[in-house]
Amino acid sequence: MIINDKNQNDIFDEMEIDYVFSNNPINRIHKIDEQENKTQLLVDLEKKIQNIENCELKKNAKKIVFSDGKQDSKIMIIGEGPGQKEDEQGKPFVGEAGILLNNMLMAINIRREQVYITNVVNYRPPNNRKPEPKEVTRYSEFLREHILIINPTILVLLGSTAMEALLGYKLKITKARGIWKEVIIKNKVYKTIVSFHPAYLLRQPEQKKFSWIDLKEIKKEIDRSNIKI
Ligand code: URA
Repeated sequence: MIINDKNQNDIFDEMEIDYVFSNNPINRIHKIDEQENKTQLLVDLEKKIQNIENCELKKNAKKIVFSDGKQDSKIMIIGEGPGQKEDEQGKPFVGEAGILLNNMLMAINIRREQVYITNVVNYRPPNNRKPEPKEVTRYSEFLREHILIINPTILVLLGSTAMEALLGYKLKITKARGIWKEVIIKNKVYKTIVSFHPAYLLRQPEQKKFSWIDLKEIKKEIDRSNIKI
């Protein structure tokens, strides 16, 4: 008696072959759960930032600029804060500095879509001023939570504000850049490198030679740690 005119192969095609033959289907489901959980945690964090009170940055900004890129990337890039273009589009690094950042990544064979990008502060500071230390301290709580959710293998801190937010105010970027450091959040250790901010490089193009050294160091670490981009 024919109860179903599909043959076995049709059924496998519909079911995803990896799943059917996996020795460990529970793990796969676990991965999907993890992904959904991460997405939800990011949504919750963004809402928490949107609910911030008595914040000069939020009061003057058009949009929250939360993040861009691949949320399960092993590389997380952190800038200072949104500029005019980012404030208009609600996306980090979309202006001139963003174009330079994309090109810097391309120079080590990484596409922007393959990394996760955010900033220390999520609202544009008025007149593009540097965020004040008390603002950096306030937002770095969110940033730490953000890092824990993304859980990258490598953190790239672009510019002194990102460096100060996670490594403190004692360092000088000219001395600290290009050297691997550790950021520890809730007992988790993140391999971290500081490099010049692309906006600074646009003003001081002769400093690009140092960024190139840092980029090559990042690439070396990706290869050394066998990080899948
Ligand atoms: N500069 C930053 O630090 N972040 C951006 O998103 C844009 C410019």
